[in-house]
Amino acid sequence: MGLLDGKVCLVSGAGQGLGRAISREMAAEGAAVVLLERNAGTVEAVAQEIAEAGGTAHPYQLDVTDYDGYGKVVADVAGKLGRIDVLVNNAAINPPTRTILNDTLEDWRRTIAINLEAVYMGSKLVAPHMVARNDGRIIHVASIQGFASSGDCGSYNAAKGGIIAYTKSMAVELGRYNILVNAVAPGFMVTPMSVVNGIDETTTPDFIDWYVTRRKIPLGRSGLPEDVSGTVVFLASDYCRYMTGQLLVVDGGLMSTF
Ligand SMILES: NC(=O)c1ccc[n+]([C@@H]2O[C@H](COP(=O)([O-])OP(=O)(O)OC[C@H]3O[C@@H](n4cnc5c(N)ncnc54)[C@H](O)[C@@H]3O)[C@@H](O)[C@H]2O)c1
Repeated sequence: MGLLDGKVCLVSGAGQGLGRAISREMAAEGAAVVLLERNAGTVEAVAQEIAEAGGTAHPYQLDVTDYDGYGKVVADVAGKLGRIDVLVNNAAINPPTRTILNDTLEDWRRTIAINLEAVYMGSKLVAPHMVARNDGRIIHVASIQGFASSGDCGSYNAAKGGIIAYTKSMAVELGRYNILVNAVAPGFMVTPMSVVNGIDETTTPDFIDWYVTRRKIPLGRSGLPEDVSGTVVFLASDYCRYMTGQLLVVDGGLMSTF
């Protein structure tokens, strides 16, 4: 028995990092996982990994900012698999130019388009399928940068803060349809995204000194994708049935310190 037996779960940005781990763990818990990813190579590779582990995956190459394309994928999934139980809005970018003094309007709009607007798009497209069955889970991957800032990624902060506020709005609106909407806020995670301008920010001497050795992160290490995927599986599972509109912070204790 898996925690997600029989469920159809959509995961955006499934080709690497957290999306890959979430997809693998959902499949290991019995879900049929629909992988949404703009990178054709990685989405196929993750689908193969899941199949080799005995799970079920359906890969789709998709840019989640393409509303028409996203709509076609959702319709195809609903037609072929007959239901959509869970959407995980995970895809995002962490662009190199992110400060108000250095970015451009185009930079800002690109980040908001992927990191916030596509969350709206995916949710809008799947919600009617969940309403029809009076059942569903929508899980947003936010960030601690949605309520605290490193000071160098304004558009990313704005998008993640928007997701946290939108989680509340969606939870209130969709509760009457038994659709639970929650979010997770990872802290520092070791994924390809943690490489900024060619440097993995979780491995620099300053990072190790402050966050690890001096325990700014009380658990004394950066997070791994698997540290978040279990939380997402919980939110998608029947163990989570009376909680909606919430943000679960998965940061090794970082935001509990001062
Ligand atoms: N890595 C961290 O430290 C960290 C911390 C907090 C929150 N997060 C959040 O976790 C989520 C996953 O991050 P990650 O670290 O795994 O990042 P990542 O860059 O390793 O993976 C993101 C995936 O999303 C895909 N993607 C990006 N834009 C897309 C688009 N337009 N359409 C479809 N797919 C797209 C990428 O191709 C990639 O496969 C993101 O929402 C991120 O903001 C990450």
